[in-house]
Amino acid sequence: MATNIVWHQHDVNKETRSQALNQKPRVLWLTGLSGSGKSTISNLLEKKLVEAGKHTYLLDGDNVRHGLCGDLGFSDKDRVENIRRISEVAKLFVDAGVIVLTAFISPFRSDRDYCRNLLGEGEFIEVFIDTPLEVCEQRDPKGLYKKARQGDIKNFTGIDSAYEAPEAAEVHLRYSGQSAEESAEQLFALLTEKGLLD
Ligand code: ADX
Repeated sequence: MATNIVWHQHDVNKETRSQALNQKPRVLWLTGLSGSGKSTISNLLEKKLVEAGKHTYLLDGDNVRHGLCGDLGFSDKDRVENIRRISEVAKLFVDAGVIVLTAFISPFRSDRDYCRNLLGEGEFIEVFIDTPLEVCEQRDPKGLYKKARQGDIKNFTGIDSAYEAPEAAEVHLRYSGQSAEESAEQLFALLTEKGLLD
């Protein structure tokens, strides 16, 4: 724990940067099971946001685990630390005026709330990518569900590690057979309708 450190107030701040970028910074926090479509949908959504003139950054689970969180595994303790670091990074991006998209399982409610509490009012938008376990397991793009069922991977979310579904997400995207592109379109429409991109 660092001591004797003082927070500096800079002349260029969140407001100045946001004005320069002509947007309200925020975090679009996608949560859902492995294989639910978080990465694919956030990638497509980011393209739509950029086309609409927004300044964005996508933090993606598998990528972040190569670098910033490369030392972390999938125990409860490591997942908590994973989400804590990502939340702090997301906050820095928000301070830079950017619209952040995140795509992490983020299975624990308290960790998602940790990020919500780090940010200002209205800056944290929880998006539940609600794809049933059966569908994710059927897709199994990385063959990980199969390995988890065989016991070759321990602590796999939805199999032998918990997923705590959001109770009051700002946006609830239910899977009903639509394609990833259709999901991204639905999400963009819902965010717009609810004024969450204003
Ligand atoms: S989180 O729980 O800490 O939010 P994160 O989104 O970063 O997870 O990483 C999830 C990705 O790691 C999955 O999509 C999957 O590819 C991979 N993975 C490897 N082992 C596990 C596991 N035990 N549980 C869940 N995902 C795992």
